[in-house]
Amino acid sequence: MAIERIVDTSVDDDEDEQVIEVTLRPQFFSDYIGQERLKKNLKLAIDAAKKRAEPIDHVLLYGPPGLGKTTMATVIANEMGANIRVTAGPAIERAGDLASILTNLQDGDILFIDEIHRLSRAVEEVLYSAMEDYKLDIVIGKGPAARSVRLDLPKFTVIGATTRTGALAAPLRDRFGHIYRLEFYTPNEIGDIIARASGILETKIHPEAASMLSTRARLTPRIANRLLKRVRDFADVNGDGIIDEPTTNRALELLEIDELGLDPADRQLLNSMVDNYGDNPVGLNTIAALTGDEATTIEDFYEPYLLQIGFIERTPRGRRVTVKGFHHLGKTHPALADK
Ligand SMILES: Nc1ncnc2c1ncn2[C@@H]1O[C@H](COP(=O)(O)OP(=O)(O)OP(=O)(O)O)[C@@H](O)[C@H]1O
Ligand SMILES: [Mg+2]
Repeated sequence: MAIERIVDTSVDDDEDEQVIEVTLRPQFFSDYIGQERLKKNLKLAIDAAKKRAEPIDHVLLYGPPGLGKTTMATVIANEMGANIRVTAGPAIERAGDLASILTNLQDGDILFIDEIHRLSRAVEEVLYSAMEDYKLDIVIGKGPAARSVRLDLPKFTVIGATTRTGALAAPLRDRFGHIYRLEFYTPNEIGDIIARASGILETKIHPEAASMLSTRARLTPRIANRLLKRVRDFADVNGDGIIDEPTTNRALELLEIDELGLDPADRQLLNSMVDNYGDNPVGLNTIAALTGDEATTIEDFYEPYLLQIGFIERTPRGRRVTVKGFHHLGKTHPALADK
């Protein structure tokens, strides 16, 4: 689909957006809003590790895009007072690439591996043995002269982030002492995130406008920040730069974002499911064919929020639009139609 989605949960290539993400990224637990259970558990682990003067156990963070996985990795490093080395699954092509990263780490360092589900099997194997006993087996030389040597590695911590734990090999998953799912935020928490962000950006926003944005940000901090930025641009161009309710309303209308944060692409997805299959379950690949997206895009970007707000549900035979979903589209669910 060629529509540029404002509510897309992935990071824009837009340089401006990346700068904003970095400026707005919380640095410590105290400015990381929400995810209380996760923070409580991690604080405990960090305090204990500090007391023992040891690195914390490996941490795996999973959940839909834009909920704060990368941010949490940075927070953990800051709270530990540790160096963080950042890499990503697709960037580590060969076992040798990983070996050179690992041998360059120092005691207590954190290695953040984003999109950890995209590591190749060969790299995964090297990684999980390194995580297990801080040893690295490498083969030196070729042919009959080849020999294997075992190197000691520093005591490091891996923080892995993924949108899909299902795609992670079980032996790798088992090496993580902490496995946490990031949850969608409540509208109140999103409201706090918007208030914090507008403070940092020195933007004036009326409480009604903030509350309006907080229910349209798909319960996702990345989208909250992005909407704030778009509405701010709109207020700068069309008014005095102050974000009030009418400005917000007009900006959101222009962006075609409805009161629940759905955009035309979401509505197209729901409509094509309903128009073609009614309330029957539809397979992921069929949905992908209907909208022209990749199945993984549907799974990572559209579906989590639509499931969260109860517009679609998963059944063993596929996804189907719920009564609530039908209602939002202004359509009557077959079960409720007069027979
Ligand atoms: N708890 C939070 N409080 C305040 N702001 C947050 C919070 N979590 C995330 N953000 C903001 O949202 C932005 C996106 O978060 P982040 O990049 O950590 O998401 P992610 O889960 O790593 O996404 P992806 O799966 O796409 O990598 C951050 O730049 C930050 O500004
Ligand atoms: Mg990230």
